[in-house]
Amino acid sequence: MVIGIIGAMDEEVKILLDNIIIDNKMIKAKMEFISGTLWGKNVVVVRCGIGKVNAAVCTQILIDDYKVDNIINVGVAGGIGIEINPGDIVVADSLVQHDMDTSAFGDKLGQIPRLEVFDFKCDNKLVRIAKEACKSSSGHKSFVGRIVSGDQFIADVNKIKWLQGEFRALACEMEGASIAQVAYLNSLPFVIIRSISDNANSGAHIDFEKFIPIAVENSTKILKNMLEAM
Ligand code: ADE
Repeated sequence: MVIGIIGAMDEEVKILLDNIIIDNKMIKAKMEFISGTLWGKNVVVVRCGIGKVNAAVCTQILIDDYKVDNIINVGVAGGIGIEINPGDIVVADSLVQHDMDTSAFGDKLGQIPRLEVFDFKCDNKLVRIAKEACKSSSGHKSFVGRIVSGDQFIADVNKIKWLQGEFRALACEMEGASIAQVAYLNSLPFVIIRSISDNANSGAHIDFEKFIPIAVENSTKILKNMLEAM
């Protein structure tokens, strides 16, 4: 089994790269794909860059060139809702692209037009393993629910309320739902695990810088527990 592990930013993959026993490195589409053994499992770790296009390109390369059996995306996200705070974990069970809008044709916001599904469901088994991995890691709360993605850093309380009302989202970020769409198109199991770096409000950019180390530490802990259980 080969597991593809995607992080968007250097900060999100650094601890992984500090721990991987490297077999091979390849650069494609300006992304470095590092294959090897991480916490006992065969993996390919890659920093895809920020946003949905980078994430989609990266996911398809993992599938085509590395024949990965499943994909785990780890990283940080903005928390939605008062009970979700920096450091907490959100395991996605489904994802939607909040910036997809063909409502002029009568589609629901977030619906990819002419696609047979509205949201992209994470693999049940991977979600269960991720939930278990959260239980065996202390010091933060964990939630399971929908994550929404778009090519926007959300820093606006009205936008958060909208994401909550429209999509019942627990967290927002910029890659997960596009990884999810590519995995869906290729019938590949995946899960998205995010740790909260900010509350997506007007202070989000300040909190983001402050909390990113602890958020990355927490999502990496969950990934380690997961890989050991897989
Ligand atoms: N990633 C971390 N925080 C975020 C936010 N507020 N909006 C979008 N992506 C994020």
